[in-house]
Parts: sequence; C-alpha cells; structure tokens
Amino acid sequence: MAVSVCAVYILLAVCGIGGLAQDVPPYTEDCRSGTYPPSGPTYKGPVPWYTVNLDQAPYERWQSMIKDKKEPLNDVIQHIKKLANFVIPSGKLIVLVDALLPGLIGKLPYPFGEEIKGVADAAETPLGEILLFNIFYEVFTVCTSVVAEDSSGKLYHARNLDFGLFLGWDVKNSSWMITELLRPLVVNVNFVRNNKTVFMSTSFAGYVGMLTGMKPGIFTLTMNERFSLDGGYIGVIEWILGDRDGSWMSFLTRSVLENATSYDEAKALLSKTQILAPAYFILGGNKSGDACVITRSRKSCLDIWELDTKDDRWYVLETNYDHWKPPLPIDNRRDPAKKCMNRTGQKNISFTTMYDVLSTKPVLNKLTTYTALMSVSDGKLEAYLRDCPDPCVPW
Ligand SMILES: *[C@@H]1O[C@H](CO)[C@@H](O)[C@H](O)[C@H]1NC(C)=O
Ligand SMILES: *[C@@H]1O[C@H](CO)[C@@H](O)[C@H](O)[C@H]1NC(C)=O
Ligand SMILES: *[C@@H]1O[C@H](CO)[C@@H](O)[C@H](O)[C@H]1NC(C)=O
Ligand SMILES: *[C@@H]1O[C@H](CO)[C@@H](O)[C@H](O)[C@H]1NC(C)=O
Ligand SMILES: *[C@@H]1O[C@H](CO)[C@@H](O)[C@H](O)[C@H]1NC(C)=O
Ligand SMILES: *[C@@H]1O[C@H](CO)[C@@H](O)[C@H](O)[C@H]1NC(C)=O
Repeated sequence: MAVSVCAVYILLAVCGIGGLAQDVPPYTEDCRSGTYPPSGPTYKGPVPWYTVNLDQAPYERWQSMIKDKKEPLNDVIQHIKKLANFVIPSGKLIVLVDALLPGLIGKLPYPFGEEIKGVADAAETPLGEILLFNIFYEVFTVCTSVVAEDSSGKLYHARNLDFGLFLGWDVKNSSWMITELLRPLVVNVNFVRNNKTVFMSTSFAGYVGMLTGMKPGIFTLTMNERFSLDGGYIGVIEWILGDRDGSWMSFLTRSVLENATSYDEAKALLSKTQILAPAYFILGGNKSGDACVITRSRKSCLDIWELDTKDDRWYVLETNYDHWKPPLPIDNRRDPAKKCMNRTGQKNISFTTMYDVLSTKPVLNKLTTYTALMSVSDGKLEAYLRDCPDPCVPW
C-alpha cells in the first residue's frame, strides 16, 4: 500500500515543478494584520471540543466522538479508496487493504490497536480502512510550526496544519478535495485521567496519533513531515512487511504527550526513539529558553536547534526543510513566515500576531486545514478551521 502511495506522490511532485511562481502577487502577500480573532464570510468556525477519558478501556474511549463524526469520517475514507483505485485500478488495492491490514492491528503497540478497533466499530467501517486512514497522516502532512518567546519570557507555540498535498486537485472548486473533506473531522480533544486534564490536542476524529498537542504547564509539541530521499517511507513499508523496530511518528508524539512529565524527558524521547520515517519535532517548554526543533532521521537525531534569546534567536520556525538548508524554491513558506515574525518583533508576540503570521500567504495556502495557537503557561489551546479564498497558492 505505502509503496504505491509514495509512487503517486513522487510522480505528481515532479509534474508540479515549474508550474508555479510562488513569490509573485497575489500568491505572496504583505504580512497580514487584524486577522484575529477570525471573522467574516471566509471564516469556517472554531473547532469543537471533545473529552477522551483515558481511564476507559482503549476500545471504549473514542466511541462517543466517533458516533458524532461517523459520516464525515466515512466520506474521507470513500475518497481515499477512490484515490487508491485510481493508483491501482480494478479495486484490487482495497481488497488487499481489507484483507491484509486487519491482521496487522495486533502488531500495533498498546493502546493503539485497541483504539483503532474501537474507532472502526463505532464508525461501522472495515478495520483495514481505518488503519489506512491512520497511516495516511504519516505520509501527507506538510506544515508550518513556530515557537516564540516574548520579552517577558512567556512561550507561544503555533502551527498551520496543511494536509492533502497531491491527493486530488478539484478543478471546479479550486481546492484540494481531501482538505475540504477533512475540515469537519477537526476536533480539539481534552484527554483526562482521574477527571483531570493530562494533555490537549488538535486532531482529526478517527486518528489516534497526535500532530499537535500541549501538556498544560509542562510542554507543547507539534510534528512536521520531513521529506528525505534516503529514508522516506521505506520504514513504513518495512513495518508492514514485518520489521517492527521503529515507532510510528505520531504514536510517539501521542505517547510523549500522554506520559512524559517534563520538557527534558520529552526532548530525550523525541530525539532517541527509533521511528519509521524522518520527521521534525517542534517542542516548547514552560520557561524562558526552552524550545527547540529536533530534526530526525529514522534512527538518529541529526540536529537540535534551540531557542537562544541571547543570540537574538527568540523564535524557532520549521516548515518541511532542514533549517540549515534552503527550502525548495517552489515551496518557500519559511522566509515569508520569518519575515512576518521579524516584522512583528519579540515585544509584540501574542496569539493575535502569531495568527496574523499564519494567515499570510503562502504560509496560509489551499492545503491549510487548521491553525492552532498554544500558550503553555496559561494552559490555553485554540484552534480555527481555515480557508484560503482565491487567489491563493495551492500549497
Ligand atoms: C465542489 O463543487 C461542487 C459544485 O461545483 C459541489 O457540489 C461540491 O460540494 C464541492 N465540493 C466540496 C468538497 O466543496
Ligand atoms: C468530574 O468533574 C466534573 C466537573 O468538575 C464533575 O461534575 C464530575 O462529577 C467529576 N466526575 C468524577 C467521576 O469525579
Ligand atoms: C509554568 O510557567 C508559569 C509562568 O512562569 C508558572 O506560573 C507555572 O507554575 C509553570 N508551571 C509549571 C507546572 O511549572
Ligand atoms: C502511557 O503509560 C501508561 C502506563 O504505563 C500505559 O498504559 C499507556 O499505554 C501509555 N500511553 C501511550 C499512548 O503510550
Ligand atoms: C529575521 O531575523 C533574523 C535575526 O535577526 C535574521 O537572521 C533573518 O535573516 C531574518 N529573516 C527574514 C526572512 O527577514
Ligand atoms: C502589535 O500588534 C498589534 C496587533 O497586530 C498592532 O495593532 C500593534 O500596532 C503592534 N504594536 C507594535 C508596537 O508593533
């Protein structure tokens, strides 16, 4: 499965090059202001909150949310199946997914296999298809994440989640079909144990890993995809074929959010645990200077880039490229975001100004599904559904 997904990805990526001049108006705009709190005709609304009780058995804990989200979840899965059939016509791939993937559920570490079973039953969807849906996020997420420290030493962590690259451009609607379909699945989740919050996350209903989350008073964490030719998704394929040494990236972030008790412990786990594909982990702590971008290959930690206010580095910002290398010219969200961060200045950092930065094209683009804002010391997480009306850059 993952083989063919990769193949489409590479194919379309190559086709895409050259078709786009991203640093010209109207695709690139001057730093926005006055976008927060969002309002107006293009505002898609706040993200709804749900509670997941970790004291319940893994099979049980997602049931009530999934009953609510059954329809949009099945819409997305139908769409993924259509794409799969496009890659390998005749429906053979989905037959394979339904036949092969359920057998792999038992190989997932506790509690993920049981949780996915619970999701599949609540959604009345075949188990293999829910697992496929969970695998998809590991493969198609591009993003912007930033942790910034204001002049008083308070930390803010914000991110745009861009999802669905190359998963079918809808010409009529001028949008990425899957990005549209995913919007109704975006949820904020309050994970509780003993009736107390353990961590919070902005996520997609039906997905048991985590891409964005906060442990109030302790740390904030986001994961961005790292494209790499040596490494890539080989690990995912190896895992399916039986080599299960590495951890799924978003399962690792979930485990860290759930069980790590300090910034340092989170940092150690994220830099040392073997994972299935390269990734960037963007981590913020609860005190001045505690923020970093961890650049990972599957087996090792390549770099930890730390906040350093003495050296005038009062924020760390990561898109989908190693920070010591230039971004791909056709996908430069990094410099526009940095330009706006610089223009805002450390003194004026807040939810308002971070939201403005993440609302500036092409940091905001057609793939952007949500923007999340986190303030660890206040224990505050806010997320907003996004839309990027024309003219807007496709990614
Ligand atoms: C795309 O546009 C068509 C009509 O042109 C509409 O029926 C459909 O709902 C739109 N799809 C999405 C996902 O917005
Ligand atoms: C959990 O907290 C809520 C609100 O504080 C309270 O109403 C409820 O009874 C508590 N439940 C348990 C099991 O302690
Ligand atoms: C987090 O930081 C805030 C502000 O400095 C402080 O009041 C709070 O006690 C810290 N929380 C923890 C758990 O250390
Ligand atoms: C967190 O730790 C508990 C207790 O060791 C364990 O049961 C649970 O599965 C862990 N959670 C995750 C997501 O790994
Ligand atoms: C932003 O500011 C930093 C530090 O002053 C500087 O190194 C960087 O070149 C600036 N970037 C942009 C895009 O303005
Ligand atoms: C700080 O940001 C706010 C909101 O964007 C803006 O109105 C204000 O002018 C900014 N202040 C400074 C000193 O840049």
